[in-house]
Amino acid sequence: MQNRQLQLQPRLQLLADLVPSGARLADVGTDHGYLPVWLLQHGRISAAIAADIGPEPLEHARRTAAEHGVQGIDFRLCDGLRGIAPEEADTVVLAGMGGETMIHILSAAPWTRCPGAVTLLLQPMTKAGDLRLWLSDNGYCFTQERLVRDKDFLYPVLVVTGGPQPPLTKFQQEYGLLLSKDPLYGDYLDLHLRRLEQAEAGMLRSDQETVRARASEIAALRAEMKRAREEWQG
Ligand SMILES: C[S@@+](CC[C@H](N)C(=O)[O-])C[C@H]1O[C@@H](n2cnc3c(N)ncnc32)[C@H](O)[C@@H]1O
Repeated sequence: MQNRQLQLQPRLQLLADLVPSGARLADVGTDHGYLPVWLLQHGRISAAIAADIGPEPLEHARRTAAEHGVQGIDFRLCDGLRGIAPEEADTVVLAGMGGETMIHILSAAPWTRCPGAVTLLLQPMTKAGDLRLWLSDNGYCFTQERLVRDKDFLYPVLVVTGGPQPPLTKFQQEYGLLLSKDPLYGDYLDLHLRRLEQAEAGMLRSDQETVRARASEIAALRAEMKRAREEWQG
């Protein structure tokens, strides 16, 4: 019987495409295990650890591998990278979780910030700004950023490794520093321009002085975003 081929959704497909060829992958928070299964099915990686903090997600990953005839994945039940030794992986994916969970996981694994030790592919669902700031303050540098549209959402993906990073501006922290070459960057700026306009209008209506004062911070970000949008178009 021929093994079933897995189809990845766009978000996971972009991550798969960013994994270096021949990588020794650790997919942390693997859940369904689609990423390591697809990468092994396509001969893109040399080894895979699929890790999750929950026994049920890990069982799901085992089932996905079995249903697709993929062998050789090392399944680990652990919190973040606690059950994975530095020499076991050269590429670590953290995807589909909040930025604060990624910070928790990376804080407990300082080996990930040794220059050249590991490529990190990070796809935060929330708090991308907090994550960028934490990364740049904690010895990581950005090598690439990408956007992907999946089910009407635009997700940023950060490619990061250990190394010095010049301090980020507030705009870079919130909206990325290497995204301007991405074909979806214009849509991403338009989306956030609308959000900033709505936030600013709401703040200006507030009867609290402190809230109204914050509207000027939002206005400064919005002006910078408008300039970025015009430059990107030009
Ligand atoms: C929404 S799923 C994302 C699955 C997959 N990575 C993706 O992007 O489609 C998040 C997974 O992360 C796992 N997770 C959350 N915190 C974790 C931690 N500290 N260590 C390992 N796994 C964690 C959850 O159990 C869950 O299976």
